[in-house]
Amino acid sequence: MPYTVHKLNDYSEETMLRAVVQFRLALKIEWFEIEQKIVNPDLTSAARQDELKKFRDRWLSRKSGQFSQINELWLKNAPADRKKSVGHLINQLKQNDLPQIEQLIEKRGFFARQSSDAILSINRIFDDEKGRKLQQETLVTQSRMNSLLQTLESLGSEELQKIAIEEFHVDLSEALEAAAKSKDLAAERLDITLPGIRRTMGAEHPVIKTMNEIIGVFRNLGYSVEEGPEIETDYYNFEALNFPPDHPARDTQDTLFIAGQESKPLRDRLLLRTHTSPVQIRTMQKMKPPVRVVCPGKVHRNDAADATHSPIFHQVEGLAVDTNITFCDLKGTLDHAMKALFGSSVKTRFYPSFFPFTEPSADVQISCIFCDGKGTRDGAPCRNCKASGWIELLGCGMVDPNVYGFVDYDATKVSGFAFGMGVERIAILKYGVDDIQLFFQGDVRFLEQFG
Ligand code: DAH
Repeated sequence: MPYTVHKLNDYSEETMLRAVVQFRLALKIEWFEIEQKIVNPDLTSAARQDELKKFRDRWLSRKSGQFSQINELWLKNAPADRKKSVGHLINQLKQNDLPQIEQLIEKRGFFARQSSDAILSINRIFDDEKGRKLQQETLVTQSRMNSLLQTLESLGSEELQKIAIEEFHVDLSEALEAAAKSKDLAAERLDITLPGIRRTMGAEHPVIKTMNEIIGVFRNLGYSVEEGPEIETDYYNFEALNFPPDHPARDTQDTLFIAGQESKPLRDRLLLRTHTSPVQIRTMQKMKPPVRVVCPGKVHRNDAADATHSPIFHQVEGLAVDTNITFCDLKGTLDHAMKALFGSSVKTRFYPSFFPFTEPSADVQISCIFCDGKGTRDGAPCRNCKASGWIELLGCGMVDPNVYGFVDYDATKVSGFAFGMGVERIAILKYGVDDIQLFFQGDVRFLEQFG
C-alpha cells in the first residue's frame, strides 16, 4: 500500500511530529525508487517520463497531491487552538521540500527523455568504483528508511526529532517552539464573538438616595449645599457651637478623639466630627447673611453597633440666617419638609429640647407613619411609635445668639434657625428597614431592592 496522508488522531506534539517524519520518509523512499527507474535502460523513454509525471502528480498536484492533502487533512481538521502550531510545521515542511523536489524532477527529466542507448552509455560513465559505491549507499539508506517507517509508531517525540535531524538535516524543534508559543497566544486569544460580560446596573445606596431626597426638598426651597471636613477641631465641633470646655452636653456626643493631641490647646485638638453642625460655623465664617444651606455628611460616634446604632452614620444639617427669621419660619419649613419626605398626611409636632447652639431648641416629631398617628394598629399597640402616635425625628431650634459671636454676625440684627437630622433614621422609616447595620454590610440582595 503506497503511503497517503491520513487524518491525525490527535494534535499532540508527538502525533504531529510522527506524521511529518512519516511524510518525509515516504517521500524520500519513493524518490529513490523513481531515480532507479529513470536510469533504467529497459524502460522506454516514454515510460520513464511517465513515471516522473506520475510522481509529480502524486506528490505535487494542486488538487490531490500529497502536499495539498496535508492542508486538507491536517490543517483544516485541526482544532482552533492548534491551527497555528500545525501551520508552523507544515510551512517548515513545504519550505524545505517543495522547491527541492521541483528541482530534482526538473533535473531527472533529462535522463527520462533519453533513448535506452543513451542511458546505457551514460550509465557506463558512472559505472566505476565511485559510482557503484554511491549506488550501494543509496540502497542502504533506502532500506534504513524503510525499516524506520515500520517502527515509527513506537517512537516518542525525542527520537522522532532525532530522525528529522539525522535523515533530513532539519531541526523541527524551532517549528515546535514556535508552535508552543502560538499555543500560549491561542490561550490568550480573545473571542469577540462570545457574548459579553453583563454588567448589572448599579443602584443608588439607600443612604445616599435618602440623603439626596432630603437635599432635593431643601434645594427646591432655595437652599444651597455646603460640606465640611470629617476630621474636625474641638473648636468647630464644640466650642464655636457654644459647648463650653467642661459642659456636660459634650458627654452625650461619645466623641472619638485623634490620639496624641494633648500638647495642643484644647480648641486645636482633632477629632472625628460627631455631627454636621460644625459646617454651620464654617459656612457663617465665609458667608454673610442671608444664609440658606444644607450640609450633608458622615459623622462618627463611639457607639457599639446594634440594630439601631452605628459608629458611622450620616446627617443633613440645615441653617437659615437672615433678618426677621422666626420660629414660625422654622416650623413651616420643617413641616413642609416632613410632608415632602413622608407624604402630605403627615403631621409634625415641636417638643421642647436642649442643644447648646440653639435657643429655644426643639425635637421634631412626626405623626407615626405606621399607625397614622393612632397609636394602635390592627387592634394592638403600634410598636413603631410605642403606642404614642408620634415618632421623634430631628433636632432644631433658633440659632443661639452666642453662636453669632463666634462668626462675627451681629446678633442684634440677624436671626436664624438650624436643624439636624439623621439620614439612616429617615431611611429606616421610609423604607421599613429593621436593622441599621444592613446599610453598611454591602449585601447586594438588600441593596438591589433600592434600584
Ligand atoms: N447636631 C445635633 C446632633 O447631632 C442635631 C441638631 C440639633 C442639629 C439641633 C441642629 C440643631 O442644627 O439646631 O445631635
